[in-house]
Amino acid sequence: MSASKHITVLLEETIQALAVQPGGRYIDCTLGGGGHAVAILDHSSPGGQLLGIDADPEAIKVARARLEAYSNSILLINENFVNLQAICFKYDFFPVHGILFDLGLSSLQLENSGRGFSFQQDEPLDMRLSPSQEVTAAEIINTFPETELAHLIRSLGEEAYSRQIAHRIVNERPIRTTLQLVQTIELAVGGRRGRIHPATKTFQALRIATNHELEHLEAALKQAISLLGFEGRLVVISYHSLEDRIVKQFISQESRDCICPPGTPACICGHTARLRLITKKVITPYPEEVQSNPRSRSAKLRVAERIVHQDEYYKNDEELYFLVGAEANGWRKPAVINELKKAFSTVEIE
Ligand SMILES: C[S@@+](CC[C@H](N)C(=O)[O-])C[C@H]1O[C@@H](n2cnc3c(N)ncnc32)[C@H](O)[C@@H]1O
Repeated sequence: MSASKHITVLLEETIQALAVQPGGRYIDCTLGGGGHAVAILDHSSPGGQLLGIDADPEAIKVARARLEAYSNSILLINENFVNLQAICFKYDFFPVHGILFDLGLSSLQLENSGRGFSFQQDEPLDMRLSPSQEVTAAEIINTFPETELAHLIRSLGEEAYSRQIAHRIVNERPIRTTLQLVQTIELAVGGRRGRIHPATKTFQALRIATNHELEHLEAALKQAISLLGFEGRLVVISYHSLEDRIVKQFISQESRDCICPPGTPACICGHTARLRLITKKVITPYPEEVQSNPRSRSAKLRVAERIVHQDEYYKNDEELYFLVGAEANGWRKPAVINELKKAFSTVEIE
């Protein structure tokens, strides 16, 4: 794989959204070809640090070569971001000034991985981000009952012909390659209709299912909040509506002080906002970017900032240590720290 082929999406917008500053500490949860990572390292110099995570060992290899010049400032980990918090605890990499998710796949994976992510090449139906995962796309296609396949294709691909496609798949099994699957889908839907290739949505559904993409995103967003320091930024770039809905709802929920169902007479949830929305409107690429990089056309960037209520810390000693850790890292919020010291006068925090 060559690193030059993935064109980084919304690069300037991401650096701005992350508010990258010299000496800052950042996590790139989707390192890919390392495009965002290089820009984060450049803008956080001198003294910046980056933890780069990718589930795909090939991506880590490519990024490591590309980031060689920054080797003193980076820590690259081949892991799934569903384990974000455990990774940060293990390497003592928190709190951080910013966390980035640039979801989905890189062009390197779509075009050169040989794992069947794209229907443009004939490849084995694998679709795993990492060889350490147990279940391949072929196993899903060849073992799921028809109704479950139809549900998967409908819910994760938003495919209107899900039942016809699932029925045909079951008749044609075993299906081992992308080309076989494309032909099966074409037979099921009666060939190409609009601008979108008839296999697009089924491939999306299979990839999401194989890698548990939606569940992992939800879990990682929750973990990200507690890793962000004061005013730390959470930036997520998504490429389809299912991902974007999760991000939007997550930020909206975490930006509210009460999440009781509408009509509840008095708040019973006890929820407090931990994020503040930075831009109400989603950020999308300019037409020039879409023209030069058509893959960016569906990109949506959302950004939020970590806010901390003192109550949040009054509740939880562990978080207090986290806060003081933030101070030790040169983040000055003396008023809050003093308040906390008073509140926890029996707790050793120095
Ligand atoms: C769109 S690419 C990132 C491109 C990168 N921002 C750049 O500019 O080069 C997405 C990357 O995220 C990785 N990825 C997707 N889901 C992941 C997960 N759950 N855990 C870790 N890495 C993941 C993919 O392997 C891929 O390399």
